[in-house]
Amino acid sequence: KSESTVRINDKEFNADDFTNITPKISSYLGQNLHLQKHNPLSLVRQRIVNYFYSSFTHGGNPSFSVYDNLSPIVTTRQNFDELLIPADHPSRAKSDCYYVNRGTLLRAHMTAHQSELLKSGLDNFLMIGDVYRRDEIDSTHFPVFHQPSFDPEHPHKFTNSISDAMKQSCHTLEATKLMEAQLKNHLIGLVQTLFGENIEHRWVEEYFPFTHPSWELEILYEGKWMEVLGCGIVRNEILANAGPNHSIAYAFGLGLERLAMALYKIPDIRLMWSKDSGFLSQFQTNDINTKITYKPVSSYPQCVNDISFWLPGNESSKKHSLCYSIVYRHLERTLTQAEVNRVHKEIEQAAVNAFNIVIR
Ligand code: PHE
Repeated sequence: KSESTVRINDKEFNADDFTNITPKISSYLGQNLHLQKHNPLSLVRQRIVNYFYSSFTHGGNPSFSVYDNLSPIVTTRQNFDELLIPADHPSRAKSDCYYVNRGTLLRAHMTAHQSELLKSGLDNFLMIGDVYRRDEIDSTHFPVFHQPSFDPEHPHKFTNSISDAMKQSCHTLEATKLMEAQLKNHLIGLVQTLFGENIEHRWVEEYFPFTHPSWELEILYEGKWMEVLGCGIVRNEILANAGPNHSIAYAFGLGLERLAMALYKIPDIRLMWSKDSGFLSQFQTNDINTKITYKPVSSYPQCVNDISFWLPGNESSKKHSLCYSIVYRHLERTLTQAEVNRVHKEIEQAAVNAFNIVIR
């Protein structure tokens, strides 16, 4: 009989010695910033999805699907085992992940869903969602961030040879080189679409347990090389375990926060969670490709007062009333409700004098 349980989104899970998820962290589940209309993460998400729709033309079954609402609660099998991440790998440490219990955690990357989508028969898919890693919080680190991850696959004739720095043993060098070229073109196209044709980039060799060979793409941003994504040719064992035989595939994962911070010059990752209209209104646009440069708003809190009034009209006809919310905020200090009320009264009086309205 289990003694303790944890509740996450109205679901009960058994707790054990691995449980380290906190109520604060669970409160981020389901917020889905990447799907909130005026959140900068949503703008970048839409631009990435559009880029893949327009650039991804080769056939598949179906040609390409997007998953942006998969539950972040996954098994250690999904997050690690199916991706060939060894049992003693540091990324499994309790100090790095939010565990619900020994077998269940908040996904640390979207690649956790790769095998289940492959098993369901998909060839080409883009997964976007919130991922969770234990981290110190500062202007560039937050324990939750948002990651799109992609996985297109091509038919492949297999070979038997050695695995080396260039390729996996079962793949021909030609196929590997072809995939590498497609993968790199595809991703350079993405950063050029986001940052402009002239964006400087470089590829850095990397290691991931689930891809080989693997790379990271860096772009030159404000004079410094900034890592934007990890990618590589999917380990054939993963594909073989999940179904598709005689295929070769590539995959990548990137961070929406980092791209949004660079694109819109947002200085602090914590701002992504802001509900402040001074922040969100700057990303209110009907054209996701508009160039937006974030302008800092006061860090002192907003104070909202409504002004509600009858429009002037002749007595006999139906009366019309309007209501506006006015946001008050000081650049250097927190306003008190009393002083906001004084200014608000003056605005009401000025409106009465100028427009002949009647305050409700
Ligand atoms: N999952 C990796 C990460 O989160 C990124 C990645 C995805 C790398 C797919 C290679 C292939 O860092």
